[in-house]
Amino acid sequence: MVNLSPCLVLSWILAIMCYFHIITQAYQTKSTQNISSFPNSYPSEVGSGFNVIDSCWRKDSKWASNRQKLADCAKGYGADARGGKNGAIYVVTDPSDHPIHPKKGTLRYGAIQKRPLWIIFKRDMSITLEGGELFISSYKTIDGRGARVEIANGPCLRLDNVSHVIIHGITIHNCLRGRLDLVRHGIRVTSSSKIWIDHCYLSKCGDGLLDITQGSAAVTVSNNYFTQHNKVMLLGHSNMYLKDKKMHVTVVFNHFASGLGQRMPRVRYGYAHVANNKYDEWGFYAIGGSSHPTILSEGNHYTARNDPRTKEYVV
Ligand SMILES: *[C@@H]1O[C@H](CO)[C@@H](O)[C@H](O)[C@H]1NC(C)=O
Ligand SMILES: *[C@@H]1O[C@H](CO)[C@@H](O)[C@H](O)[C@H]1NC(C)=O
Repeated sequence: MVNLSPCLVLSWILAIMCYFHIITQAYQTKSTQNISSFPNSYPSEVGSGFNVIDSCWRKDSKWASNRQKLADCAKGYGADARGGKNGAIYVVTDPSDHPIHPKKGTLRYGAIQKRPLWIIFKRDMSITLEGGELFISSYKTIDGRGARVEIANGPCLRLDNVSHVIIHGITIHNCLRGRLDLVRHGIRVTSSSKIWIDHCYLSKCGDGLLDITQGSAAVTVSNNYFTQHNKVMLLGHSNMYLKDKKMHVTVVFNHFASGLGQRMPRVRYGYAHVANNKYDEWGFYAIGGSSHPTILSEGNHYTARNDPRTKEYVV
């Protein structure tokens, strides 16, 4: 507690608040990142070392000619997510964004169509969304494989009252509030089901990196890389929101890397299976819950930062 001496003179409650405040401040950093410096989260050797999800598609060196096979590869509660399977391929060619009248060729135009679409990207691109969050409609896959695609420095992604959405291989960072809304999440999933978020890179947003709330169910969060953010993943909206009792989420094969504070995940009411994740460090805690959640945590690998406060809860 050497750095917290002002707190010591106060009650233990204030001590916790002080500590929490320091941690929160530490993770409010904002900076832009270099798209070519993002870690490549795919295993490098084809045929070895794949987990059960990756081996399903990645062992096939011709995966790019059978992209929709990916939809059969999810495990856990989101395994039924079909995404845009059996729909047309839609190619994003234009990184610009027009929230009111989206142009053909942009991500927003494809993502809001009613019919199933498998959305891919013609080349590497950095997309800054304008106005407000991009509300993705049901039966969509956003498939970043083969291109480096980032959504950054503006509003980011929203799934609300939808089902069958797959988001794979997209980098999302520095999500900011748009002109038309107040939200600063990376990916926000509300009242939705059959959702699979796989191999995304998420960091540095104004609010949760990946929050799954308001009666969402049947979700898998796998193979993602989280870094540089305080409140990582909230499962369950609030203590008053009893619909989250039906929530069931699988959190598997994720890498919770450097500079994270808490909520990996934090669970309210529902059921979370948290397995085979790697935790490099945390500022406050890694997995937590309140309001009678059930958390099955198994096979996770934890390394605490070299700071006694993160190894044992000391007040
Ligand atoms: C991005 O990173 C690459 C490789 O590390 C480097 O060559 C390039 O100069 C960087 N670009 C910027 C804008 O920092
Ligand atoms: C959710 O979507 C369904 C159609 O898929 C619609 O009938 C319903 O009104 C929507 N609910 C809300 C709260 O928007």
